[in-house]
This record gives sequence, structure tokens and C-alpha cells, in this order.
Amino acid sequence: MMSNTKKLYIKTYGCQMNVYDSERMVDAMGADGYTTVDSPEQADMILLNTCHIREKAAEKIYSELGRYRPLKDANPDLKIGVAGCVAQAEGEEIMIRQPMVDLVVGPQAYHRLPAMAAKAGGGVQVLDTEFPEEDKFEFLPRGTKAKRAPAAFLTVQEGCDKFCAFCVVPYTRGAEVSRPAERLLDEARDLVERGVVEISLLGQNVNAYLANDWSLARLIRELAKIDGLERIRYMTSHPNDMGDDLIAVHGEVEKLMPYLHLPVQSGSDKVLKAMNRKHTAAEYLKVLERMREVRPDIMLSGDFIVGFPGEDEDDFQATMELCEKVRYGQAYSFKYSPRPGTPAADRAHVDESVKTERLHRLQALLTSHQVEFQDSMIGRTLPVLVEKLGRETGQVIGKSPYLHATHFLGEASDIGKIVNVKVVATERNSLSAEKV
Ligand code: SAH
Ligand code: SF4
Ligand code: F3S
Repeated sequence: MMSNTKKLYIKTYGCQMNVYDSERMVDAMGADGYTTVDSPEQADMILLNTCHIREKAAEKIYSELGRYRPLKDANPDLKIGVAGCVAQAEGEEIMIRQPMVDLVVGPQAYHRLPAMAAKAGGGVQVLDTEFPEEDKFEFLPRGTKAKRAPAAFLTVQEGCDKFCAFCVVPYTRGAEVSRPAERLLDEARDLVERGVVEISLLGQNVNAYLANDWSLARLIRELAKIDGLERIRYMTSHPNDMGDDLIAVHGEVEKLMPYLHLPVQSGSDKVLKAMNRKHTAAEYLKVLERMREVRPDIMLSGDFIVGFPGEDEDDFQATMELCEKVRYGQAYSFKYSPRPGTPAADRAHVDESVKTERLHRLQALLTSHQVEFQDSMIGRTLPVLVEKLGRETGQVIGKSPYLHATHFLGEASDIGKIVNVKVVATERNSLSAEKV
């Protein structure tokens, strides 16, 4: 079949940073004549942008690759690439386990993707998992001037120097690097020109952002001056990098949304120490207390790991107590998953059945707090940034300041606007509202 444009199918796993990276890879491949398609069956190239954070996430990639076997058999010219954190962590192993993979590219080498794609295929396998000197974002094209959805991600910082004992990120993403503030302000202005109203600043440790004299606090203050940019968020933060200045910004900058995702992982000091988190539960709670002083309406979100090596019932109870104290509006919780190459992987593990049982208890508690917070929205008027049409006719869907998906009767012309609505009911993971 002859055709001038080549077709790219890209599937993204893991965190928002992968979502941002995938957009930039699409831009880079676009400059090379590729347009995106919605199904692997239509593609000339399939690219999986992968996550290595837990075993399940990594294994998913191999079952997904297995599904492409018939496509590759039918079309030997089809190129299959693996990008992201599994690519970085497993490198060549991927091609040994799945010989039909043509290309493996680590998260810091994406600017080299078009050249790699041109070379790969027809039996030639290409691999690049270097951490190059140059900043990939400086070499990745920014795409067209095409209109964008109202909410966008912007990666400001990458990598992690914290080395929590359970975590692969310092190995898959490398050392902490912050992008220059001028570039970010430029990119933000560009996004706003293209219809973006809300920007979420991303980083594995976003509040460790430091580029010359620019801290995250200073960057947020400067971004807030951009006309047309109405909402700013940032994630994910580490408790030890919540400095005075950043806390103060939450009380000053109205465009900064009253939402903070601040993972703690455990409420037990013994476990926190074993995790190498370098803070105690009390220190974490103190940060939240100061945050609530400057921004009393802030909603808090967190991450938890249960069944970390050495966690006993008392430690787990300490986590439950911390949650009772904080009452998170929303939280993520996971069973500890041993990751090859991380310090905790070789320790004595908690029984799987114990992990499962603890996870159920913790999730029941976290869900009850989430429901309580959502229910407290009923009757309140909230500004919602409308993002798209809903499934039911006349319905539009947007995000509340607290990131709740909120739907109400509206018009297509509401998309991209911030509309005041009154919450009338709550559902499992969303709010139902009416225009006021
Ligand atoms: N940089 C962020 C989070 C990165 S990973 C931070 O420091 O908070 C996202 C979440 O995945 C973590 O907060 C943690 O709760 C979870 N996680 C990371 N490694 C894990 C592992 N080995 N097993 C289970 N959960 C893990
Ligand atoms: Fe992983 Fe810890 Fe770094 Fe977060 S701070 S990315 S959990 S090592
Ligand atoms: Fe996963 Fe890599 Fe993000 S391991 S969570 S995709 S940084």
C-alpha cells in the first residue's frame, strides 16, 4: 500500500509525565511525517510509553506486546517500539523476551526517536537508553499552533535524587533536572494562545524545581501574570521540599488551585525510616497544618504503600491514624511491590495475604473520607473549567478546583470557560451540578 503519511499508534501507561512525553513524541514524529491513529490495526508504527513503578504495570507491557504478534505477522513492515520507564529499566532484555520489538528508547532520549525509527525495522533493532548531556525538550519540536484542550500538562522538572528504598524512578528517570524558567514561561504562553486555561506543572519531585534563581514558588508567581491562564496546579511533591515560600504562594496566588497532592507513604516513623523518606509522620503533619493555615479550603491528596518490608500491625495502625487526622479528599494506596535493583527488594517481605487485607482496610477508610469530602460539596457553588461534551445530550464535563469531574447541562460554547455551578448530587467519582 502506498501512502505519504505514516501512521503512529501510541499507548501511554503510568504517570502524567508519560502523558506529556507522549504528546512531545507525537510532535517529534509528526515533524517526520507521522500522523496518529486510534487503533494498532491501522498503524505503521506502534509505540508503548511504559511504566515500571509496580510489577503489574511492567508485566502489562509484555501481554500488550503479545497482542501485536498477529499484526506483525501480517505486516512485517510494522515497527514496534517500547519507550518509557520499562525501556530504561529493562533495555535489551525487552528485545530478548520479545524479539519482534524493533526499537527501545529510554525517557531521556526521545529527541532521538525519529532517527531511531527511520533506522529500525526489517530485522534491525535499535536501542537508546542513555542519559544524554543535552535536554531532550530543547530538541523536541513543540508541534503546530493547533488548538488545544483547555487543560494541559507542562513538565518543569524530571528525575529524582531521593532514592526511597522501594522506588525505581531515580533509576528510570535519572537525576533531578529542572528546565529553564524562560523556556517554561514561553511554552506556557504558547499553550494559552492555543486555548489552554489550566496548566499542571509536572515533575517527579516538582517542588524540588530549581533553575538558576528560579524556585517553583517564583515560577508560579510569574505564570500567574499570564493573561488567559486561569488555573495553575503542580504535582507530585515531596514533603521535604515544601519550603516556606511555596507554602506562602498558596495564600497569595489565587490562580493556584486549592489542591495539594503530597504523598507520605506511611504513618509509622519506623517504616518511614526504612523507606528512606527522611521525614517523620509529625513533620509531614506539620507541613499540612501550615498549608491549611494559609489556605484553609485546601483539599489534600496522598499516596500510601502498605506491607512494606518490616511493617507490622502497629505500623499499619499508625498509617490509619494519620489518615484519620488528615482526612484526605482523595488518595492512592498500593500494596508494596518489590522492584528489581531497589534496596528494599532484598528484604524479608510481608505476606501477600496480609498486604491484601491491610490494603482493603486502608482503602475502606480513605474511601469514606473521600465520600465525606465530596458530600460536603453538595449545595455549594463551584467554578468549573469545562473541558468537553458529556455522553448524554446537552451535558458538559469539567473539573472543580479540587479536580472532581463535574457534569451539568450546558452548551458546546462553554468548553474552555470557567462556569459557576451548584453541586446537587455526588456520584462515585464525580459531581452532578446545575448552572447558577
Ligand atoms: N515522586 C512521587 C511519586 C512517584 S511514584 C513521590 O515521591 O511521591 C507514585 C507512587 O507509587 C508513590 O508515591 C508510591 O506510593 C507508589 N510506589 C512507588 N514505588 C512502589 C512500589 N515499589 N510498590 C508499591 N507502590 C509504589
Ligand atoms: Fe520515588 Fe521517592 Fe523519588 Fe518519589 S521521592 S520518585 S517515591 S524515590
Ligand atoms: Fe511509572 Fe516512570 Fe511515571 S515508572 S509512574 S512512568 S516516572
